[in-house]
Amino acid sequence: MRIKVLGAGAGGGLPQWNCGCRNCSDARTGRIAGMSQSSVAVTAQDNVWVLLNASPDIRSQLAADGDLAPPGLRGAPLAAVVLTNGDVDHVAGLLTLREKSAFEIVATRQTLAILADNAIFGVLDPALVTRRPLDLDRPVDLAPGLTLTAYAVPGKVALYLEGPAPDLRAMGEQTVGLRLDGNGRVVHYIPGCAEVTDALIDRLADSDLVLFDGTVWRNDEMPATGTGAKTGARMGHVAMSGPGGSLERLADLRARRVYVHINNTNPVLQPDSLERRAVAEAGWEIAADGMEILP
Ligand code: MLT
Ligand code: MN
Ligand code: ZN
Repeated sequence: MRIKVLGAGAGGGLPQWNCGCRNCSDARTGRIAGMSQSSVAVTAQDNVWVLLNASPDIRSQLAADGDLAPPGLRGAPLAAVVLTNGDVDHVAGLLTLREKSAFEIVATRQTLAILADNAIFGVLDPALVTRRPLDLDRPVDLAPGLTLTAYAVPGKVALYLEGPAPDLRAMGEQTVGLRLDGNGRVVHYIPGCAEVTDALIDRLADSDLVLFDGTVWRNDEMPATGTGAKTGARMGHVAMSGPGGSLERLADLRARRVYVHINNTNPVLQPDSLERRAVAEAGWEIAADGMEILP
C-alpha cells in the first residue's frame, strides 16, 4: 500500500485566509510550511488511487502529484472518493471533480443524503459518478487489492447541519473512521474523532499505521489563542494533550502514528515548540503536505 497525504491541514488550511495567528503569519512568510486541507490518497496496486475525502484544495493537490495525473488525453487514475463525514473540508472538492470522468463516491447513507439534498453535487454526472452506500462494520472491495471497512467514531453532524444543541459525541453514520486492508497491511484513517473510546483502542490494536485527528493540541486552544470561541470538544475533535487526549489514550499502540487534520492554531506546527517535542517523544509524527508513507 502507498499512502500520500495530499493535505495535512484542517478546514481553513495554513495559512487560513482570515487568520493572523502566529502559525498563519509564519506560513505566509515561509518560516513554516503551509498546509492544504484534509485529504489522503491511497493505492494498493496498478497505480489505481482512492481519495479519502475531497478537500476544497483538491485541484492544486492533484496538479502537484505526478501519480494522479491523467494517463492519457482525458481521465484520471482515480477509482473512488471515500468520505468520512459531510464537513465542507471533506466534500467541497467533489465539485472540482466534475468534467466527465467516472469514479465512485463511497460514504454512509447519511453522508450520501447530504450530497443528495444539495443540488449542486448533481453537477457530477450520475451516469459517470456513482454513489455507493457503506454499511458500518462491513468490509467492501474498494479498488484493486484494497478492502475498506467504515466504522462509527464519536462525532457530530457537519457544522452547517447543527441544530441548537448538537450531540457532540454521537455514534452513528455522521462521522466514521476507515480501515483499509491491502498488501497484508492495515491502515486506519480517522481525521475527526471526538473521543478515544476503549472500543476504538481495541479496533486499532492490530494496525500498522494510524492517521489520527490532530486538530488541536489542547481543548481550549482557540479561546486561548484568541482565534475563536469554540473548544476542540465543541468542534467534535479530541485534543492531543490532557486527560483523555489522544497522546494519553493511544500511547500503547504498536502502529506507526501520524497526526493529520491539523488546525492552524496548533502549536505542534512550530518546529521548536515544547508541544512539538512532546508529540515526537511520544512517538507521533506530524503529517505534511506531500508526505508519502509505505505502511
Ligand atoms: C471540522 O473539522 O470541525 C470542520 O471541518 C469544521 C468546518 O466545517 O469548518
Ligand atoms: Mn475538518
Ligand atoms: Zn491562524
